[in-house]
Amino acid sequence: MPTPATGAQRPPIRLRTPAPEDASAFLAAVAASRRLHAGRVSPPDTRALYRTWLERIGDGSYFGHFLVDDAGELAGVVNLSEVIRGGYQSAFLGYYVFAGYECQGIMSQGLRLVLPRAFGQYRLHRLEAAIQPGNIASRRLVENIGFHLEGVARRSVKIGGRWRDHERWAITAEQWRGRASRRRKA
Ligand SMILES: CC(C)(COP(=O)(O)OP(=O)(O)OC[C@H]1O[C@@H](n2cnc3c(N)ncnc32)[C@H](O)[C@@H]1OP(=O)(O)O)[C@@H](O)C(=O)NCCC(=O)NCCS
Repeated sequence: MPTPATGAQRPPIRLRTPAPEDASAFLAAVAASRRLHAGRVSPPDTRALYRTWLERIGDGSYFGHFLVDDAGELAGVVNLSEVIRGGYQSAFLGYYVFAGYECQGIMSQGLRLVLPRAFGQYRLHRLEAAIQPGNIASRRLVENIGFHLEGVARRSVKIGGRWRDHERWAITAEQWRGRASRRRKA
């Protein structure tokens, strides 16, 4: 894996809503990222699964975002899934970059774009990320953003045919806003 880039080298990214016409580019990026994603995430890898993902994005209990680089290429994905309303206002946070985009600060930027939407426009109050203990990049990513480790859920998610332990990292709207206001004052 390449050496992480410094802040000054990080290319700017923006969010875009996934669309039907992105299918070919998305599936090519997923195919090229198999090794990076193996045992960690299982993105849609057929046209039918891509269509199903787009349908989920439209149903109000799931938010999907592409991270797009300055040339318009797909750099990664951030999903908010299992949205529970009522007294919870919570969701699970899932994310991955595509091969060639890792270790450049892309996902750090991506989460800093998605979290204000999650706690603003989407009216969520708590986000949880389920992270395998050995996924150092993912742990550092959320810790830097201000997530807290709440515990370990044993054999909680089946990935690649195996039940795997996952740490439960979470952040609330108040914690996010508190950090944002401290950053502004610093
Ligand atoms: C986890 C993932 C999304 C991180 O994306 P990224 O854009 O490479 O992350 P960033 O470059 O923003 O780096 C985030 C932090 O992780 C660190 N990091 C990144 N890759 C690392 C690696 N391979 N080893 C150790 N630390 C790493 C960075 O240095 C940075 O920490 P720092 O700012 O304290 O230095 C990416 O590695 C990925 O897609 N992995 C496969 C899918 C996956 O694991 N998804 C998450 C499932 S919970």
